[in-house]
Amino acid sequence: MNDKPIGIFDSGIGGLTVAGEVMRQLPNENIIYFGDTVRFPYGPRSAEELKKFVFQIVEFLRGEEVKFIVIACNSASSAALEVAQEHFDIPIIGVVEPGARAAVQATRNRRIGVIGTQATILSSTYVKAVHAFDAGAKVFQQVTPELANFVENGELSGKRVEDAIKKYLNSLIEADMDALILGCTHYPLLNKTIQKIIGKEVVLISSAEEAAKEVGEMLARKSHTRSGQKIPCYRFISSGDGSKFLELGSRFLGREIKDVEKIKLG
Ligand code: DGL
Repeated sequence: MNDKPIGIFDSGIGGLTVAGEVMRQLPNENIIYFGDTVRFPYGPRSAEELKKFVFQIVEFLRGEEVKFIVIACNSASSAALEVAQEHFDIPIIGVVEPGARAAVQATRNRRIGVIGTQATILSSTYVKAVHAFDAGAKVFQQVTPELANFVENGELSGKRVEDAIKKYLNSLIEADMDALILGCTHYPLLNKTIQKIIGKEVVLISSAEEAAKEVGEMLARKSHTRSGQKIPCYRFISSGDGSKFLELGSRFLGREIKDVEKIKLG
């Protein structure tokens, strides 16, 4: 048993989709969520820069005595999960492998689409992760640069969003895939619009849901779950504008965020 909190972080509020799933699936666990809003977006940044950010945030969360860390950002997971796992003595998971595994399980024609930021797609981490589970699966990737910005600004539907999604998904629709990985933790918030455009035959894979399942399994196997039935404590910390975080974060989590602490990193 271990009552320490789980640390979860992202470039902004997108990782709240992961935190929300962890809250739903593991309602007993304490959580510290960090959104690096001042440095959002991570997607266009280099792997070197993302590694630096990940190390700073993991150091910070370790200082807060978390028992486990989830990099709830595909861009940061793609650039730095392995090096962070090598460097730190605390268990760290990312969001790419859980999403890739779920896609391999879900696809029937073994044709899988992936949408994500430039950092995620150019690193090809999803292609490698899918092939680790099924070397014969076909993976079709598409960079979708504007989508995380729409979400971070609270624009989840409407013509602008739909037009952008249509433009990005065209080539994937032609590729006849039957499972689409939402390879950015911001994208589950666009679920409805994406499903409407891609058609209901295509299964959408949310890395948020899959990562939360993995957190539960890891904690149970390590006997690190929180003991008893207690009210959980959630802390929200941001490196930037707390007001946007308060308003949009509450909407996305489906529960009120009462307070956002602000810290400066680096
Ligand atoms: N949520 C981040 C991810 O999963 C992307 C957003 C950004 O560009 O910062 O990749």
